This record gives sequence, C-alpha cells and structure tokens, in this order.
Amino acid sequence: MIYVLNGPNLSRLGTREPDVYGAETFDDLRALCEATGRELGLKVEVRQTDDEAELVGWVHEAADGKIPVVLNPAAFTHYSYALRDALAQRTAPLIEVHISNPAAREEFRHTSVVAAVATGTIAGFGLQSYVLALRAMADLIK
Ligand code: DQA
Repeated sequence: MIYVLNGPNLSRLGTREPDVYGAETFDDLRALCEATGRELGLKVEVRQTDDEAELVGWVHEAADGKIPVVLNPAAFTHYSYALRDALAQRTAPLIEVHISNPAAREEFRHTSVVAAVATGTIAGFGLQSYVLALRAMADLIK
C-alpha cells in the first residue's frame, strides 16, 4: 500500500490556473495514480484535503502503519512546520512531488520546509511527476 496525499487546492485541478497546472482534473490524477499502481503491482490510495490538521492526521496514520507516502503538500510545502514535523516521524520512504517546478516560479515557492525530511523530490513534469514518484517508490520498497 502506498498513500498519495495531496494538499490544498489540488481538488481544483482542471479549472485552477490551467496554464500552470494543466487541463486534467483531480479525478484524472486519481485514475493515473491507480493505473500506475496496477502496473507496478502496488495498491495506491489517493487522498486530497484542504485541511492541514487532516493532512497531519493522515501522515501520522502512515507513520503508524509504515506506509510509504507520495506527497504533494501544495502551498503547505512552503510554510507548514506542523506538516514537516509530522513527516519527520515517518517510518517508510517519502517522495515530495509537484506538478509545476516551484524553483522556476515566485520566490516564496523556492523554499520547501518538507524537502529536508523527504527521501527525494520530483517536480515540474505535470501529472507525470506522480508517475515518476510511484515508479521511484516501487524501486525503493521492493
Ligand atoms: C504545487 C506547487 C505549490 O507551490 C503550489 O502552492 C501548489 C501546487 C505543484 O504541484 O506544483 O498548490 O505543489
């Protein structure tokens, strides 16, 4: 089992700044992750929340269950020490993903408070960032 966790505003994919995040919807993202999971022989559970407390709770759940996590923390990436501290308790690999390339965008996106507690980061490949992350995770946990 792998959790694919998504932070705020990612439910709005498709209508949200399509020039930055593309035309595909969150349902498309879910389907892509599940299909990639099937290809890799891994069960993938995709979740999204706008709520920091709920996301922190899922991260605790993953830590308790030794469940690997692919995480797009969205805007929490840049400032949520609560999320960072939850992720630091991880007991399995963590891959940070971004659809866009935050390093090529506004200054405030250049900082990730999550990166230092992740196994690695994949950013800038659109929804393919998730496919690459799931493949990397499959290699890490095999
Ligand atoms: C994002 C990049 C973040 O800076 C932004 O706040 C998001 C999405 C991405 O996937 O490109 O919500 O994480």
